[in-house]
Amino acid sequence: MRMLARNRFILLLAVGLVLAVLSFSLQHLQLMPLGPMAEEVSRGKSRKRVNPVVHTDAPELDPITEAYNYCNLPNQTEHTWEGHSLADYKLLSVHVMIRHGDRYPLYSIPQTKRPAIDCVLSANRKPSHPLLSSFISHMAQGGRGHWDASLGSLPRVPSHSSCDLGELTQTGIVQHLKNGEILHQAYIKRHNLLSTDWLPKQVWVESTGKSRTLQSGLALLFGFLPNFPWSRLTVRQQWSTLFCGSSCDCPARNRYLDLEQKRQYRQRISDTELERTYIAMATALGVATRTLRAANPIDSLLCHLCHGLPFPCANPNSNSHPMNPNTQGACLTLGHFAVIRRQQRDDKRERQEVGFYRRYAVLAAYPYLNRTAQRMEAAAKRKRKATEEPVFSLASAHDVTLAPLLSALGLEGAAFPRFAARLVFELWKSPEMKEGKGNKGGGGVENAFVRVLYNGQDLTFDTEFCREHDRHASHPLCPLGNFLHFVRRDMFSIVNATSYQEACHQTVL
Ligand SMILES: *[C@@H]1O[C@H](CO)[C@@H](O)[C@H](O)[C@H]1NC(C)=O
Ligand SMILES: *[C@@H]1O[C@H](CO)[C@@H](O)[C@H](O)[C@H]1NC(C)=O
Ligand SMILES: *[C@@H]1O[C@H](CO)[C@@H](O)[C@H](O)[C@H]1NC(C)=O
Repeated sequence: MRMLARNRFILLLAVGLVLAVLSFSLQHLQLMPLGPMAEEVSRGKSRKRVNPVVHTDAPELDPITEAYNYCNLPNQTEHTWEGHSLADYKLLSVHVMIRHGDRYPLYSIPQTKRPAIDCVLSANRKPSHPLLSSFISHMAQGGRGHWDASLGSLPRVPSHSSCDLGELTQTGIVQHLKNGEILHQAYIKRHNLLSTDWLPKQVWVESTGKSRTLQSGLALLFGFLPNFPWSRLTVRQQWSTLFCGSSCDCPARNRYLDLEQKRQYRQRISDTELERTYIAMATALGVATRTLRAANPIDSLLCHLCHGLPFPCANPNSNSHPMNPNTQGACLTLGHFAVIRRQQRDDKRERQEVGFYRRYAVLAAYPYLNRTAQRMEAAAKRKRKATEEPVFSLASAHDVTLAPLLSALGLEGAAFPRFAARLVFELWKSPEMKEGKGNKGGGGVENAFVRVLYNGQDLTFDTEFCREHDRHASHPLCPLGNFLHFVRRDMFSIVNATSYQEACHQTVL
């Protein structure tokens, strides 16, 4: 019986691995829309281990296909691996970090019409979701929830018939209802992670103070726990997009970010094709190149693409550029778009080679990883089902949160966080611990295992802390101990330190 289950699991693993490799090759090229903070960083020169290279030689996708992956249109069926484990293993806790869903651009392109997108939710408009109507009515009762700091004053659903800059769209809501539904199937239906009478302390939800992250988190939560009782819910606010709580002070992190941004700037200005493209675009629109650049046009172009809208043209009512009286009505093109995407891809490659971003990322991601490690360790050591620590935690965040987390984990080959991306940590316990047999010394940690999934793909064995784990040994899962050692010490080796304190306060030249 046991043997059978194990063989089946190994088969599943093999299939999973094939899918993971496939997905990596598909996602290798990423989109790098600059977030509001425009931060991107890199990988260490002093790595001791050689990357086993699952995904370095992936064929390059054309920029358009790549961009559609980034859009994450919610009409596609996903094959997901959340909740897959060995028979008899028990799921103890799940920790999720998401990027908000599809949003309106953060900037508008000068001298063009803004894309016409309706942000008012309507179950009759596409894309829709079976839960959308009940979600809308449930959010109307949100006054009964507990809201930290400024969160209570934010709208709980998108609400403008002409979207505000940065506002979550209906697509964004549907993406997260869908994510929640996937997690509901995996963790509630299949593994009974939370019973219907779950306690307030068992569910932890946190968001930044932006409406798009709050709304995304609520949509995921609603898909996960449909019609959840508001009285049991508290939503916490994170002031920093890094989710660093009270441990945000880290001078060395800022220094690495600074170095990375300088590298990024140099890379960009040395790209003559990019320079020519910006000039052509600015000329077409009749604006100064600098003005166009400052408007970060790729973000807006991605929005047009994701919503099936034609790329914008020069506003016919505006005065044309004095230098170019004949360009009225000229449009931005897929050709322009492709050049910017190509440059972003080159930039990502250089970022990984240079290594400042990876160092930044380790320091940026530590506080969140430390809290997650702490919660997992506590859950693993506990004899009964957790009641004091969350068994489900949800952090609703931004690309500038998720990207460093992936990098710090050694998942730099993974795709840049698309809209509604999700990163999941699962904690499992092997059956041996039930009777306390072989459960001495480590307080239960040695019978606990961790899985890491990104957009439904199991990347556990691509992470820095489990790349070298021998899966064919008696335990085919990644030991929690590996993760704990990594977070508490090993991850700092890249910055030549052994702790967060030491790393943050050392001098970076
Ligand atoms: C999803 O929607 C897009 C845009 O409406 C469409 O181009 C695409 O073919 C659809 N995909 C599927 C799998 O239905
Ligand atoms: C990391 O977690 C430990 C508990 O495991 C806690 O005592 C410590 O303050 C945390 N450190 C930071 C910098 O967050
Ligand atoms: C790491 O730290 C040690 C001891 O402080 C120092 O000798 C060494 O040069 C450092 N290495 C790097 C790469 O910074």
